[in-house]
Amino acid sequence: MGIAPELKKIAVITSGGDAPGMNAVVRAVVRTALARGAEIIGFEHGFRGLIGDEFVELSSKSVGGILSQGGTLLHTARSPEFRSAEGRNQAHDNLVEHGIEGLVVIGGDGSLSGAKRLSDEFRVPVMGIPGSIDNDISGTDFSVGFDTAVNTAVEAIDKIRDTAYSHERVFVIEVMGRNNGFIAVDVALACGAEACLIPEIPYRLEEVCENLRNMRKRGKRSSIIVVAEGAARAADVQEYIAKHTGFEARYTVLGHMQRGGRPSSFDRVLALRLGAMASERLLSGFSGEMVGVLGGNLVAHPLSYVLGTERTIDPDKLHLVDVMAQ
Ligand code: F6P
Repeated sequence: MGIAPELKKIAVITSGGDAPGMNAVVRAVVRTALARGAEIIGFEHGFRGLIGDEFVELSSKSVGGILSQGGTLLHTARSPEFRSAEGRNQAHDNLVEHGIEGLVVIGGDGSLSGAKRLSDEFRVPVMGIPGSIDNDISGTDFSVGFDTAVNTAVEAIDKIRDTAYSHERVFVIEVMGRNNGFIAVDVALACGAEACLIPEIPYRLEEVCENLRNMRKRGKRSSIIVVAEGAARAADVQEYIAKHTGFEARYTVLGHMQRGGRPSSFDRVLALRLGAMASERLLSGFSGEMVGVLGGNLVAHPLSYVLGTERTIDPDKLHLVDVMAQ
């Protein structure tokens, strides 16, 4: 049991795209608050549920058995309603009505922006926790869900590699990542892909074809090309490659399977550490921050820093994909 909290009643929401490990975060936020002697409730469907007053009572028991489950028991949503002043006023009214003194928001950068607006406009104490498979949030080496999503994709591609090898085919695999290639690069490295296409770095498909031809000449019988969804459609890349190389090619879109499933132990431990820290800090009177992990250490940054800084791909990692494909 820690020292008595400054805040007596807080709330928690999960918002934006779900990510494996969000449940573990909620469990940690709730149990830490209860251990500090505070009350805590949740709102379902993120900011949308905050506006619609979809509150749920939370207890130590209600978050039991969810540590290993994917998805989020609080449900989630992308909430355009929260972009209007009317929506935000309603959300604030509901917080006041419930006597909520602070809010924990688990989600990606859009959700963290929502938290900042509540804090800026209404002086509501908020604490953000990075929960997104994309891993595109600044101020943390990892967001909750990324490790599991990468493992899910790698497991699927290992299977595809078997059939690619047997038929001596090129396989183009589309992974998630609308605006960035963090998932794609780690997946490409972990499954030994021959190429990786991401939205941040320009690429030429003719060059990809040339590399594939050279690899065949050197005796490579199959190839895997990982494409982030924001870089190209897998179907288009497959068609181009088949047409310009004559190699048999197929494509697979992994899609939302990357968002589901049991969180890895890495994500569970990360979720618990971040959830506990966020709850502690909010109850102790800190606000307007996101908690994260840098070099293994827990950190807290102002949301203004997190949202104002772009997280960029490590070019050495992308280069390593090419080196390993030689
Ligand atoms: O932000 C997480 C993410 O899975 C992205 O990688 C993807 O582009 C997007 O969400 C898909 O969103 P939705 O499930 O709303 O279609």
